[in-house]
Amino acid sequence: MITYELQAGGALTGRIRVPGDKSISHRSIMLGAIAEGITHVSGFLEGEDAIATMNVFRALGVRIEGPRHGNVEVHGVGMHGLKPSRAVLDCGNSGTSMRLLCGLLAGQNFVSELTGDQSLCRRPMKRVADPLGKMRAGIHTSEGGRPPLKIMGVANLHGIEYAMPIASAQVKSALLLAGIYARGKTCITEPAPTRDHTERMLAAFGYPVERSSSTVCVEGGGKLVATDIEVPADISSAAFFMVGASIAPGSDITLERVGVNPTRTGVIDILRLMGANIEFLNQRQAGGEPVADIRVRYAQLKGIEIPVALVPLAIDEFPVLFVAAANAHGVTLLRGAEELRVKESDRIAVMADGLKTLGVAAEPTADGMRVTGSDYAGGMVASHADHRIAMAFAIAALRAHAPITITDCANVATSFPGFVELAAGAGLGIREQN
Ligand code: S3P
Repeated sequence: MITYELQAGGALTGRIRVPGDKSISHRSIMLGAIAEGITHVSGFLEGEDAIATMNVFRALGVRIEGPRHGNVEVHGVGMHGLKPSRAVLDCGNSGTSMRLLCGLLAGQNFVSELTGDQSLCRRPMKRVADPLGKMRAGIHTSEGGRPPLKIMGVANLHGIEYAMPIASAQVKSALLLAGIYARGKTCITEPAPTRDHTERMLAAFGYPVERSSSTVCVEGGGKLVATDIEVPADISSAAFFMVGASIAPGSDITLERVGVNPTRTGVIDILRLMGANIEFLNQRQAGGEPVADIRVRYAQLKGIEIPVALVPLAIDEFPVLFVAAANAHGVTLLRGAEELRVKESDRIAVMADGLKTLGVAAEPTADGMRVTGSDYAGGMVASHADHRIAMAFAIAALRAHAPITITDCANVATSFPGFVELAAGAGLGIREQN
């Protein structure tokens, strides 16, 4: 059991680099594994989620060296070189590992079993099982459409045209990974744009991907050729420091080499609408993804109605955006974000409870929250073992009037190893208790 103890107050300053992007790290292992040749990955996230994906592919017979200082070497086995695992494949806390693996394993000529921790075993999997069933794979879920899962892979998947009922990059990616094994074409239409790392990385591995405004198509039967992947720093991890610097007077921080793919920058758009002072420096491309150094200085924020179109583009950043809202003048209103209820925790309920403990007026709704900015105190907040909830409340301490204690913080290691040291070095009064 890890607890965080936060002093009230402080400011964030200096130049820091947060760990590698989680979404891109997962995909570098998955695509590297089924490519021909050796893929070199640098900047890999050495967090528990990405390591879970790595261990699954080792169990499927792929030689993977590292991670060593963010460097990984994946010895690709080609499209048809994966071997069945005798053991159940453990995805830990990682929804991305499990959902993308469903698609990839649906196209293998063997049976696989997937499981995860308590939080993952509560999360919905029918959203991938149903469309993969239409492609003629057999995905058996446990009660309520949840993990553990049994995947009856087939060598002759059928391509489909599928209009996704929810905006989910995990579902889209699962279907693309099944689509490259299917007979014919698979076309997926999304109701709103979501992160497009799978599309970009397939193209970087030489696999043709057809893209129009809201539809992406792949044709089965191609191959991937190994390449080098440079993983940028994770904008979802950088977001904690963006909000921290925005709310704490005297802050001036630069976040180095952050991935600024436009399907991920909703957090910056929302903070700018709230009046934040965020500057992009040194914009460049790295491994098929745009990156920039991001300078953030303190600014008085104001409450806004968050545009619904930005919700999928900032989906992982709402815990810390609620903290920004608590420090803004006036009311911030979020709608159209019911997906937050099925993340690592119910992020609407858990954030509203924690904010109320601190004395902030936070009113949860079915698909969002209404937060009225105000001064707030300290207290004991439960993170419900959700990494992003733990880090969001740590950042809230910068403006609290009394110390904050956050329980159940071990899962911060799933996405942000070294958070406590990095945040303390930048000026957050944080200590970890075991
Ligand atoms: C991810 C997609 C998002 C996001 C998750 C990572 C990905 O999930 O919340 O942390 O890497 O594809 P959904 O597809 O469920 O929105």
